[in-house]
Amino acid sequence: MSLRAPQLRFEPSDQLAALCKAGGDPLRLNILRALASDSFGVLELAQIFDISQSGMSHHLKVLAQAGLVATRREGNAIFYRRELAAAEGTGSALHAGLLADVDRLPLPEPLRGRIGQVHARRSAASEDFFARMAGSFQARQDLIAGLPQYRDSLLALLDALDLGAGASALEVGPGDGALLPELSRRFASVTAVDNSPAMLDLARQHCASQQLDNVQLQLADALLDDCPRADCVVLNMVLHHLPAPGEAMRQLARLVKPGGSLLVTELCRHNQSWAREACGDVWLGFEQDDLARWADAAGLTPGESLYIGLKNGFQIQARHFSRPLTTPSPTGKQETDR
Ligand SMILES: C[S@@+](CC[C@H](N)C(=O)[O-])C[C@H]1O[C@@H](n2cnc3c(N)ncnc32)[C@H](O)[C@@H]1O
Repeated sequence: MSLRAPQLRFEPSDQLAALCKAGGDPLRLNILRALASDSFGVLELAQIFDISQSGMSHHLKVLAQAGLVATRREGNAIFYRRELAAAEGTGSALHAGLLADVDRLPLPEPLRGRIGQVHARRSAASEDFFARMAGSFQARQDLIAGLPQYRDSLLALLDALDLGAGASALEVGPGDGALLPELSRRFASVTAVDNSPAMLDLARQHCASQQLDNVQLQLADALLDDCPRADCVVLNMVLHHLPAPGEAMRQLARLVKPGGSLLVTELCRHNQSWAREACGDVWLGFEQDDLARWADAAGLTPGESLYIGLKNGFQIQARHFSRPLTTPSPTGKQETDR
């Protein structure tokens, strides 16, 4: 009689071991924490954690082998983002629990400061672009997508909103103000905030020529300065210019009054890296799941979505998210927002 060694199945336990190994290091846990609502390149992460690039590459490899991070190519650069846990399967509960616990960790102050520096560099590049390129703004926009190509879809979402007579709108980043006449017609009052004086000048000229009396223009950074809350916040082709789009969605969701809406029109994910140089884009569009995930984390509920394919290969997503009248408090009780 021959005795055979018991057949061991290594794959599931390998997965668990990889998760435990990845989570068994405070630095790697903090990397996961820093990636909670943002994505960074290796060099950026090495700067944020003040370690060598090769050291950071090693930690990212361990996290990637455990399936805790994934990569995304943005032109020539590779960005790391967190990978969500699978709904079921070996390690899925550990993966989800690890990320949930990591999110309860306070981000150490030095890390927050250096993340701020990375964001400031991304913002500065974008601001510099709009300061230099205001004169050729429309021509550059048209290289990818001009408003006439998706205006009807955007207005269809707007017109489906249940707006009261005194409803207000806030447009973040109006650019040359092309959408403002449509907002002015539909809302009792409209505020448009742009952080580029040159772009705001274009918007001001447009409002004057169209005699838009209910539109107020404000020179402000929507992520840093006080902006008024509104029944409808509109973000038209702006998110891909912001340094940390997930975090930006969370901040801008706070400007939506309870029961109100956030309308986002954005490029779908693409690989046309020339858009960075030609149009000052920080991000090459977004997956539709990215927007849904960020909106969810910001306490918003997804509504209608429309997708518009353009002849030049770009695709646009027009998305509606609403803010509930009440939001659940951490104790589980319903709280009314003010
Ligand atoms: C690509 S343009 C879009 C303009 C317009 N919404 C359109 O689709 O034609 C982006 C605009 O957002 C503005 N912007 C970028 N970051 C901003 C910020 N943090 N706060 C306010 N405006 C911002 C830029 O100055 C620019 O006018």
